[in-house]
Amino acid sequence: MSISPIRRQSVSPAAEPAVALSGFTRRFGQATILKDLDLEIAAGEFVALLGRSGSGKTTLLRTLAGLDPADGQAVRTPDVRAVVFQEPRLLPWKPVWKNVTLGLTAPSPRAKAEAALREVGLGHRLDAWPATLSGGEAQRAALARALVREPQLLLLDEPFAALDALTRLKMHELVLALWRAHQPAVLLVTHDVDEAIALSDRVLVLKDGRIGAEERIEAERPRRVEGALQAVRARLLGHLGAAPADLASPQRIAVA
Ligand SMILES: Nc1ncnc2c1ncn2[C@@H]1O[C@H](COP(=O)(O)OP(=O)(O)OP(=O)(O)O)[C@@H](O)[C@H]1O
Ligand SMILES: [Mg+2]
Repeated sequence: MSISPIRRQSVSPAAEPAVALSGFTRRFGQATILKDLDLEIAAGEFVALLGRSGSGKTTLLRTLAGLDPADGQAVRTPDVRAVVFQEPRLLPWKPVWKNVTLGLTAPSPRAKAEAALREVGLGHRLDAWPATLSGGEAQRAALARALVREPQLLLLDEPFAALDALTRLKMHELVLALWRAHQPAVLLVTHDVDEAIALSDRVLVLKDGRIGAEERIEAERPRRVEGALQAVRARLLGHLGAAPADLASPQRIAVA
């Protein structure tokens, strides 16, 4: 594992980054939320983004998703992007499969939905109504909706936050399996430091409007946060402003 202080990711000239922002600034009224932010994500790289509540994580994700204006600033992203939010955002009046293919203009949409739903273990719930799904199932349907677009960039905004611990662990396995199979670049926003370490190639901390810290994680997956990774966790929590007493706790830690 190599640990690096604040620096930009170096990308070899042969490999164009999937995502590139340079000196990006985003203001709401008088408040500057993102300030001179540099970010690169390589094709197929899994990056987690931590930061205190209100630090601008969703603002950054919405920019990368093309949901917010970039105000003429250069924002490089792949053409095909998909987002999964904390809540599944399924339309209650459409069956699951139609939710999955919503807005998709492709032949055989039902077959496409079925394939994606099978991949997330919901191949038997094509015609179910969203209200009949559990929280974990609904989030899996939201993942299928992202997947069916075959994104080159998958943006995940705290997608597991509302799930119980066991379901969250299963979702981790699922997301890793989907990432391996489809190889999109991933940006996962989370408050859960252990989740960030368990899943990603690189963990970033958003602080004062820019990427304030970075940890590269090269340990084999599946990972347990022990040994050298405990030091990574402590450093990340330190960057997030956790009190020293929190750092001593062996339990799973999330910083709001
Ligand atoms: N459309 C908007 N208009 C005005 N202010 C906004 C808007 N969107 C976000 N903000 C402000 O920008 C700041 C960053 O918001 P953002 O949602 O990006 O934070 P976050 O890091 O995702 O927080 P959380 O962890 O709580 O989800 C907040 O102070 C928020 O109130
Ligand atoms: Mg947010």
